[in-house]
Amino acid sequence: MLRTSLLYLSQRPGFGRFLARFQFTRRTVRRFVPGFDLDEAVSVLERLSGEGQLSAITYLGENVSTEADARAAAKVYADVVSRIAEKRLPCVPSLKVTHMGLDIAESLCLENCSAILEAARRDGIRVWFDMEGSAYTDRTLAIVRKLREKHENVAAVLQAYLYRTKDDLESLIPLGIGVRLCKGCYKEPSSIAFPKKADVDANYAKLAERMLREDALGRGLYPGLATHDPNLVAHAQAVARERGIDPEKWEFQMLYGIGGGLHAGIRAAGNRLRVLVPYGEDWYGFFMRRLAERPANVMFFLKHAIPGRA
Ligand code: FDA
Repeated sequence: MLRTSLLYLSQRPGFGRFLARFQFTRRTVRRFVPGFDLDEAVSVLERLSGEGQLSAITYLGENVSTEADARAAAKVYADVVSRIAEKRLPCVPSLKVTHMGLDIAESLCLENCSAILEAARRDGIRVWFDMEGSAYTDRTLAIVRKLREKHENVAAVLQAYLYRTKDDLESLIPLGIGVRLCKGCYKEPSSIAFPKKADVDANYAKLAERMLREDALGRGLYPGLATHDPNLVAHAQAVARERGIDPEKWEFQMLYGIGGGLHAGIRAAGNRLRVLVPYGEDWYGFFMRRLAERPANVMFFLKHAIPGRA
């Protein structure tokens, strides 16, 4: 019930503008969004790199409604790629197709994504395309497929809560690209997504097993297992160990500010771990999805509210 309400609110930007008026909101948001501008985000990436950690960066934003906003967002990602390359950071961008203008025109989105992929390719950087709500699943995968025709550094995201994901994964394996597997964080009906968490977890485990098979890896699939679930982390490690899979051929991915207790163990086991650092002023949708994932985060938010309004 709380999750549903928070996900509903996540699509009401007016509520976000209201929350943004309070100083405590920004303090709380910082737990998950450590930078409001690129300089702040880059210093976090540098710190992570100093600690031997791989990273990803997201310039927050989604569902832009003007061509100018989509082009401006693509320009920011081009700057992000230059900063990553200039500072030689072990970092990759992770972006949303609706931030690149998909709601306006597919051709605009493709043009923006191609420019970012081309700039990133020169420095050997992979670009991950986040997966949004189910209204975008087909269109996002179509864009990934189209981009793959010219760019081998494109990487997709699949969501284990969707029934269709098993088939989507089979269709992506021959493309030989990076595929991030996450559970999924949008509100979806039971007609298309497992309503029970236990079923989502079981499907995640099955899909991860499929991704960690030699026949998939041998075709160039690069699995990014994005989860903070200790059981699924242990499961993937056990599968990879049992099959003798090279730890360089896949990675775990986590969000900044979540799952920190698992980091040391993952690295000690010799596995790659990438931490995704989101930044920017358009933090509202991302932040609300993080609150929805874990009711305890709402208490954390409310505790910060006590000192009062700025
Ligand atoms: P689960 O929700 O079961 O959580 C396992 C444990 O992790 C919890 O018990 C808790 O300890 C901790 N935890 C999880 N969420 C937390 C939170 N918000 N605050 C504090 N602790 C928390 N989704 C999507 O639909 N499209 C996408 O493109 C992406 N991209 C993406 C990239 C990366 C790198 C990650 C890690 C995740 C995503 N996601 C995503 C989000 C994903 O779908 C999912 O909602 C979250 O990762 C939470 O699911 P877990 O796998 O962590 O499991």
